[in-house]
Amino acid sequence: MSDAVLSQFKQAVEEKTEAVTDKKFKVGIIGTGWIAESHIESYLNQPDVEIVAAADIIPGKAKAKMERYGLTNVRCYESHQALIDNEELDGVSVCTYNRQHKDPTIYALERDIPVLLEKPFTVTLDEAVEICRAEKKSKAFVSVGFQPRFDENMKMIKKIVESGALGDIYYIQTGGGRRRGIPGSTFIEDKTGGIGALGDIGCYSLDMVLNAIGYPKPLTVTGYVSDFFGKNPKYNGEDAKRFSVDDFGAAFVRLEGDIILDFRISWAMHPDTPGDTLILGKEGALRIPSTDCWNGSVGGPMTLYHDICGEQAETVVPLVHTEGGLFDKKIRSFVDAARLGLPAPVPTSQILYNQAIIDGINKSAKLGREIEVEIPEI
Ligand SMILES: NC(=O)c1ccc[n+]([C@@H]2O[C@H](COP(=O)([O-])OP(=O)(O)OC[C@H]3O[C@@H](n4cnc5c(N)ncnc54)[C@H](O)[C@@H]3O)[C@@H](O)[C@H]2O)c1
Repeated sequence: MSDAVLSQFKQAVEEKTEAVTDKKFKVGIIGTGWIAESHIESYLNQPDVEIVAAADIIPGKAKAKMERYGLTNVRCYESHQALIDNEELDGVSVCTYNRQHKDPTIYALERDIPVLLEKPFTVTLDEAVEICRAEKKSKAFVSVGFQPRFDENMKMIKKIVESGALGDIYYIQTGGGRRRGIPGSTFIEDKTGGIGALGDIGCYSLDMVLNAIGYPKPLTVTGYVSDFFGKNPKYNGEDAKRFSVDDFGAAFVRLEGDIILDFRISWAMHPDTPGDTLILGKEGALRIPSTDCWNGSVGGPMTLYHDICGEQAETVVPLVHTEGGLFDKKIRSFVDAARLGLPAPVPTSQILYNQAIIDGINKSAKLGREIEVEIPEI
C-alpha cells in the first residue's frame, strides 16, 4: 500500500480520535460508598471523562465523597432517579450494594444510558433476567465490573485453553478464598448484600474458568452454603449479630458440553485454601494456584501438565506483568465501548450464566437436592 493511502487512513483515524476526545464523556456515579472511590479515581485518570453527577440515598454522602476528591462542581442527588432524570449523561457507574444493582441499572437502560455495573451481576437470577430484558429493549449496554478480565495472567488462561493445549475440557475444580477474611459493612446483611462469599469472590473464580472455556450454559447444580463463621462471635465479633448471608459455598455443576465444574469459595474456614484451580482436558491439564482475594490476578505461576513424546511433562507458565491498573482498564474499556459503539466489554449474556450458578447454589442448598437450571428466554 502506498504511503499516500496509508497517511490518508492515518488522517481519518486522527480526525475520529480528535472528534471523540474533544467532547468529554459525562459520567454519573450511583452509590458513593467504598468501591465508588475506585471508580472516581479511575475516571479522574481519563483525560476525556468528566464526573458530572453523583447520587447516594444517604443524605449528604455523595456531596461529602465528591468534596473529598475536590470535585466541588459535581451535582449531587439522593436517588438514582433524580440523578438520571436531571442530567445529560453518556454513562453511569452503578456502585450500589448488591440488592440495589437491578433498579438503578434498569432505570438507566430505559433512558438509553450505558451502565458499568459492579459485580456480582445481581443477587438472584430473576433480577439478572430483568436487567437482560431491559438491555435488549435499550439502545445502551451493561458491562459487569470484573476487572480481573483485564489481567494478563487471566488472559493467559483463556489463551492456553483456546490454543488447544488442553484438548477438550471435561472437568474443572475452581474456587478458593480465605481462612479468615469476612468483610463488614453492607456485605454481610441479606437486606443489602443479599449473597455473601458467593457474590463477593465466588463470582470472580467462576468467571475466570467460565470465560476461559467460552461460558457454557449451566444445566444442573447441587449446591451447599453455610454461615458457621459469620454468625459465630468467636470468629466474627459484634458483626455476628447482623450476619445474614453465606460465608462458604460449594457446588457440583453440570455444564453444557459434558463438563463438570466442582466449585468452592470461602470467606472463612479452618484450612488456608480449599484447593487450587484445575482445568482437566483430554490432552493436558492446567493448575492455577489458589488466591484468597479474587479481585485481581492468579495466585502464582501456573503449571501445564501434558505428555511430550510419550513422557509426562510439566511446563511452568510464569506470571506475566500487567501494565497499568486493572481498575483503570475496566473504566477505560467501558468509556471506549460507550463512545465508540463497541460491544460491552464484560457482557450480561455471559454473566447471566455466572449468576444462574450462584442462584442455583442457593436454590439447591435450600431444597437440599440437585436442581435443574432454568434460564428464561430474554
Ligand atoms: N470490583 C471490585 O473490586 C469490588 C470491590 C468491592 C465492592 N464491589 C462491589 O461494589 C458494590 C458496592 O460495594 P461497596 O463496598 O462500595 O458498598 P457500600 O455500602 O460502601 O456502598 C454502596 C452505597 O450505595 C448507596 N446506595 C444504595 N442504593 C442506592 C441507590 N438506589 N441510589 C443511590 N445510592 C444507593 C448506599 O447508601 C451506599 O452508600 C457491591 O456490589 C460490591 O460487590 C466491587
